[in-house]
Amino acid sequence: MRTVILVLALVSLAVSQDKLNMCLTAKHHKAKPGPEGQLYKQCSPWKDNACCTANTTEEAHNDNSYLYNFNWNHCGTMSETCKKHFIQDTCFYECSPHLGPWIQLADDSWRKERILDVPLCREDCESWWNDCKNDFTCKDNWHKGWDWTTGRNECPTGTQCKTFTDIFHTAQNMCETIWSNSYKYTTYTKDSGKCMQMWFTEVPNPNKKVAEYYLNKAPSVSVPASLIILPALFSMQLF
Ligand SMILES: *[C@@H]1O[C@H](CO)[C@@H](O)[C@H](O)[C@H]1NC(C)=O
Repeated sequence: MRTVILVLALVSLAVSQDKLNMCLTAKHHKAKPGPEGQLYKQCSPWKDNACCTANTTEEAHNDNSYLYNFNWNHCGTMSETCKKHFIQDTCFYECSPHLGPWIQLADDSWRKERILDVPLCREDCESWWNDCKNDFTCKDNWHKGWDWTTGRNECPTGTQCKTFTDIFHTAQNMCETIWSNSYKYTTYTKDSGKCMQMWFTEVPNPNKKVAEYYLNKAPSVSVPASLIILPALFSMQLF
């Protein structure tokens, strides 16, 4: 019995350590995170440990890049102040090795896994919103429903270009809806340790501690829980 428990504890430890440092199984992610010295501009904060390659990060800064052929300018030219948030969002998605707690199987042709409900820091969602709310779009969910007949996404018939304010109404709705709930809006601030930062400059990556926080509070047998509960059970001579 002790052996079984010990094995379970070790397995749970191994699984949660894995989840702290891993890459999505998706279109451009590396199999495993590692150093990438040449990450481009806005993606450079991830260079010590990244799931993206230098090529991916350079492409992330281009319009209609080969990454997803995604056209930011589907309702006229997107402002540079707004676009920098979409570039940062791409860096975060492609490069982050600490999204493990939010990785789920995806129902998409182009990827096996997706992220769901990643708790985004309030400042990162609100500055994204404030810099984009006067830009134009025709859809609230940018993952699906586009007209791809030209090879890049265009507004489908029956939709109209309106301001982000008219389409999304709030910062929360934009951050959550735009990528099918990849992000969850939170009121946690960047210094809380309880939300993921799309924008950061610190070394090491502050999001690792956040992932650790959510892994440890998960209902499954977590590392600290097993370290406390198991010795207690042994000392009570239950096994
Ligand atoms: C990245 O790689 C793709 C595919 O190999 C290539 O088409 C593209 O030109 C590369 N981009 C850069 C910026 O090197």
